[in-house]
Amino acid sequence: MSNEVEENHGNVVQAREVGSVHIAAPVPPTTALNGLPPCSSFFCGRDSELAELAEHRVVVVSGLGGIGKTELVLRFAEDNDFPGGRLFWNFHGYDASKRTGPSQALASFLRALGVTEVPPAEADMAMLYRSLVSVRDPMLIVLDNVSTAAQIRALMVAKHHVVVTSRHLLTGLDAHQLELRVLPEPDAERITGDAEIAKLCGRLPLALQIMSALRKTDPGHSWAEELREVRLNLLRHDDLDVRAVFDLSYRALTLEQRRFFRLVAMHRLNVITAETAAAFAAVSVTEARTRLRELRVVHLLEQDSKFHDLIQDFADEQRDREDTVQDVIAAGERYIGRCGHDRSPDWRILVWASITKLSGAGHVDSNARTQAIQPYLPHLNLEFFESLGKATRIPMNCNASCSTRRQ
Ligand SMILES: Nc1ncnc2c1ncn2[C@@H]1O[C@H](COP(=O)(O)OP(=O)(O)OP(=O)(O)O)[C@@H](O)[C@H]1O
Ligand SMILES: [Mg+2]
Repeated sequence: MSNEVEENHGNVVQAREVGSVHIAAPVPPTTALNGLPPCSSFFCGRDSELAELAEHRVVVVSGLGGIGKTELVLRFAEDNDFPGGRLFWNFHGYDASKRTGPSQALASFLRALGVTEVPPAEADMAMLYRSLVSVRDPMLIVLDNVSTAAQIRALMVAKHHVVVTSRHLLTGLDAHQLELRVLPEPDAERITGDAEIAKLCGRLPLALQIMSALRKTDPGHSWAEELREVRLNLLRHDDLDVRAVFDLSYRALTLEQRRFFRLVAMHRLNVITAETAAAFAAVSVTEARTRLRELRVVHLLEQDSKFHDLIQDFADEQRDREDTVQDVIAAGERYIGRCGHDRSPDWRILVWASITKLSGAGHVDSNARTQAIQPYLPHLNLEFFESLGKATRIPMNCNASCSTRRQ
């Protein structure tokens, strides 16, 4: 006579009859507590950020799209032991067509915790979720791609490690803030295998990964040259696309914020102040200060008030598409008028070279831009102009009139 309990199938308890005794064993619920995507095998660097993640129980990892927020958290999840399990939910906060709220995340987490009948009301789901996780061993809860604090408040728990990733700062949350910056030079070079390519990518991990993948398709090709020439047009491969990532952040701005971003990104010389931004965008200094802060919160502007090179390329494309040449020239004139009266002619040329930069998108009237530069040409120092290099992409006929001044 045997009193073994037969195999369990899902939540069905099967007991074998043993004489007149029925033995039923409780069936552990089917759980999905380790379903995180794997970390990339190319991951490198970020030691201090990983240590910072380990130090704090609730952390918001924020930064520009493609800077490596999700990858960092996945590496953290792989490197550390979470006996209570790991939960992961992508809120798609920057893609209006896929964005989810707390209910979908709570329902998914409850199912992962083994709940088969998820209550319909969000408040009940939140209560059940908190009750279930409160009795578990240490867990990691990853709330990825969050755009507002409201998306995740119901999912915050104090007992476990909660890591939120966002392009926003989300300083309203009771959490440690970890802002990611571009990779240090050695790490960036290790990914691409080429110092110049790493520099042209602005050491942005997403761009670095794309270039690394492209190089493998044709190792003999001069990728740096092509990248210098076509910039964002080259930075896409398979499902990775720098322009598309930036575009989601741009589309999330209001129309006023977008216009401000496009015009202020014409500035290339140094740190952007509220005064210079006000001149470019034709707004008051107070409004410029607010708008700059908004761009910093969504990481389209770096914390030191500079634009990332690739963001500046992206802004150039949007400006070519959405602003008229007259808008662009008027912005440049306002800037030089308000901020450039005591500067050298070279400085003015640099400003003009920057603001009349052709992005290659083909939407602009290059003759109008060339005409805009003409009054400044007599002041031009050719070596200085040449040092601007291809990056400024000044029309050739303009270059020709400069070369008459070569000493
Ligand atoms: N430290 C790293 N080493 C190597 N590759 C990295 C590193 N960090 C990120 N990457 C790669 O860069 C790309 C972008 O990273 P990730 O998706 O984590 O960016 P993100 O900041 O989460 O972007 P988004 O805001 O769009 O979600 C991925 O292909 C990833 O594998
Ligand atoms: Mg991400």
